[in-house]
Amino acid sequence: MQQAELIERIKELKLKRNAVILAHYYARPEVQDIADFVGDSLGLSQEAVRQTADIIVFCGVHFMGESAAILCPDKTVLLPEIDATCPMADMVDIEGLRREKEKHPNALVVCYVNSSAAIKAESYICCTSANAVEVVNSLDVDEIVFVPDKNLAAYVEARTDKKIIPWEGHCPTHHQILREDVLRMKEKHPEAKFIAHPECRPEVLELADHIASTRGMIMYAKNSPAKEFIIGTECGLLHGLYKAAPEKKYYCISEFACCPSMKMINLEKVLISLEKIQHMVTVPYDIRTRAKKALDRMLAVKI
Ligand code: 13P
Ligand code: SF4
Repeated sequence: MQQAELIERIKELKLKRNAVILAHYYARPEVQDIADFVGDSLGLSQEAVRQTADIIVFCGVHFMGESAAILCPDKTVLLPEIDATCPMADMVDIEGLRREKEKHPNALVVCYVNSSAAIKAESYICCTSANAVEVVNSLDVDEIVFVPDKNLAAYVEARTDKKIIPWEGHCPTHHQILREDVLRMKEKHPEAKFIAHPECRPEVLELADHIASTRGMIMYAKNSPAKEFIIGTECGLLHGLYKAAPEKKYYCISEFACCPSMKMINLEKVLISLEKIQHMVTVPYDIRTRAKKALDRMLAVKI
């Protein structure tokens, strides 16, 4: 089927099913273009809550669909590709986290949304890259067990007086961005600002002119007087950057900065998902209610 026909059929089915399409900035460009809303993890959770549609088709990775399913239990949440999972979310396990909680009885657990519903259920509060510092600083304790991203943990640690006890997880896509990649790109584009996602290594973030969530990076590039930017995150962001400020230039930090899971969803899969109402993301009641508390606490934090 040609792309134009695929898009037409998706639009028809969306109306028929009273569905809405939410996509992350790392999704394929053509998928972002058919979405009703494109955002970062925080924006996508907030948008899921605002939705009145019966069905949410989530074009991102599994934990994002799961967050929508936890926050909107009366809606059907579909993930067009069941294998679109975030490897970092699988780097933390329940038993290990429970052991960590026993070791630090005075600490609260802050869990990055890039985690399973079961881990969220074991945590006091969630955070995203957009609000991690505010979430940590909002808590009335001195010690925080922070899971699963050690790079985001280090970024927060540098911006809080609280003791951060990190977990040994990381995002493979961001962790493979090296200091030498940044230095090479800076030499090639001396006028460009380097903007980076807090999932990058500390030695990479040290070189950044600005550090922010995906949406924060777009807003910065759009509002900055600078004309060129080196992009320290997954290259899918370039689509959103060019849409927001097409007159500027963006350079992807490295050819390896690609998240394979985020690229698994294409237009065909979105169409099949709407046709067959698949793959439904569900969370067992007990886990859902506990995980929802952690997400609700996060959404209540003002940034
Ligand atoms: P954002 O919340 O900044 O969009 O990040 C999500 C993510 O998975 C980054 O790798
Ligand atoms: Fe997970 Fe990294 Fe992909 Fe984001 S970019 S979904 S953190 S693997």
